[in-house]
Amino acid sequence: MFSIFSKKHDESLDLSFLQADMHSHLLPQIDDGSESMDQTIHFIKEMKVLGYKKLICTPHILPDVHDNNPTIILAKLKEVQEVISNQKIDITIEAAAEYMVGPEFQQTINNNEEILCFGKEKFVLIEMSYAYPSQNIEQVIFDLMIKGYQPILAHPERYNYLLGQKNVFESFVQKGCLLQMNLLSLTGIYGKPVMMAAEYLMKKKLISFIGTDMHHQGHLNIIKKFATNKKFHQKVQELNLLNQNLI
Ligand SMILES: [Fe+2]
Repeated sequence: MFSIFSKKHDESLDLSFLQADMHSHLLPQIDDGSESMDQTIHFIKEMKVLGYKKLICTPHILPDVHDNNPTIILAKLKEVQEVISNQKIDITIEAAAEYMVGPEFQQTINNNEEILCFGKEKFVLIEMSYAYPSQNIEQVIFDLMIKGYQPILAHPERYNYLLGQKNVFESFVQKGCLLQMNLLSLTGIYGKPVMMAAEYLMKKKLISFIGTDMHHQGHLNIIKKFATNKKFHQKVQELNLLNQNLI
């Protein structure tokens, strides 16, 4: 698959320039990510080898599919932190969530219920369905900002129904919503239209965060290979990423 990214690799390169990952599904057995504590610890060790100093895990909160809440997520985080500490793995693990924008999340905001966020800016990671846009996305962005949160839309390049719309990404940024691109999108694993949209987001410097959105070993293998891509390292320097500020 043709990509602006060359096949040239430099094995000495890693992802340490990012410092922090703010989108992953590494907490065990609470969504479609890691299937066990052993797997979680393996993924965390591998992310450390890639150069990350902090991992902010973001389990799905998706009613009737992944019925998570702050209590469940923070309890699971504590379990992982204990194992990390016992095994003396030198990395910081935190947690927030990836909130599906829908009526339930609107209610959470309206009722002033606890919302898991990260960073001093109170970043909140939100997503839409891959099949259709969330009707209340603009309202949710507005309401989060009014309540002092900074919304980040996860992987805008993956919403196929947006890809034909002119200036759709720019309009999210103009509304005050930051954008997070998946590193995996650049590799072509989600298909060519997604890869091209990711390249467009980079070219237009619309991205504030790069996340792994790692769910499983297959993702990790691809990320490890792409981490040494020379062209990616050149291009990414042109962005004003905020990942490093999360340390
Ligand atoms: Fe995700």
